[in-house]
Amino acid sequence: QMLKVFVTRRIPQEGMKILQKAGMCNLSVWDSDEPVPRAELLKGVAGAHGLLCLLSDKIDAEVLDAAGPNLKVISTFSVGFDHLAIDEIKKRGIRVGYTPDVLTDTTAELTVALLLATARRLPEGVEEVKNGGWSTWKPLWLCGYGLSGSTVGVIGLGRIGLAIARRLKPFGVKRLLYTGRQPKPQAQEVDGEYVPLDTLVRESDFVVVSCSLTPDTQGLCDKTFFSKMKKTSIFINTSRGAVVNQEDLFEALSSGQIAAAGLDVTTPEPLPTNHPLLTLKNCVVLPHIGSATYSTRGVMSELTANNLLAGLTGSEMPSELKL
Ligand code: GLV
Ligand code: GLV
Repeated sequence: QMLKVFVTRRIPQEGMKILQKAGMCNLSVWDSDEPVPRAELLKGVAGAHGLLCLLSDKIDAEVLDAAGPNLKVISTFSVGFDHLAIDEIKKRGIRVGYTPDVLTDTTAELTVALLLATARRLPEGVEEVKNGGWSTWKPLWLCGYGLSGSTVGVIGLGRIGLAIARRLKPFGVKRLLYTGRQPKPQAQEVDGEYVPLDTLVRESDFVVVSCSLTPDTQGLCDKTFFSKMKKTSIFINTSRGAVVNQEDLFEALSSGQIAAAGLDVTTPEPLPTNHPLLTLKNCVVLPHIGSATYSTRGVMSELTANNLLAGLTGSEMPSELKL
């Protein structure tokens, strides 16, 4: 019997090939680079045994009800799972696959790139070269901040946070602070000091957010948080936009409370082109491209497909989210 699978977006061919070859899926794909409209998602998922979704699809009770009792597995093309209503999914006995590990190095690389681009003002520099602002070599022009001798604070030393710390240390970082629910033995590798959030925020020259979005971390970076940061410090977020109160961040950046911010994630996504943050020279915003290398997206596609098939056949998933 063919099992119905709904795929909410065009994904790299690696994963589609795996699903086709398996020969047990009746595949229905929202064949577009744009998100599936909600009404189409509700229609497409009806009667499905498997759902392959993206972080831009909100999978809540309404979607699960629209799917009906056949639904056995949700496989998300992401490591983050804040778009999934986990309680509702668990209640219905549905299994969840996701893509940890395979995007860790790629996302850490992007975080380092964003940090350096923000701290050394690369987008501003590029802009000046193009618009004629580069008149001569100037001692006081486009000065920023460096990592050498600095204190870096990582909020959430998980897989990605640790990979970021490992990459930043060789730049001559003097102290590596981190916060989280508990101290991590792996932190020894980067001489990480487990400190209270307040200490991290007050003492870091670079504050890097790498935690998952949960009720505990939602809005964590707010007015109080930014008010404790040094005026010369840089804020970087490559986790989820909702960890940050963006109005408070705008205020901190425009008043000079902090030096600059680099964001790969925002609320909403995409950020409207008339958003106040985009008027600021000291705010570098990227379009959520942390895991965006050809090779990593290919591997994510394979893993997402293999998780889905394992869920359909009731076998062990390569990466199952423990609910
Ligand atoms: C990207 O943000 C992901 O969760 O994979
Ligand atoms: C910079 O190019 C220098 O020579 O100091």
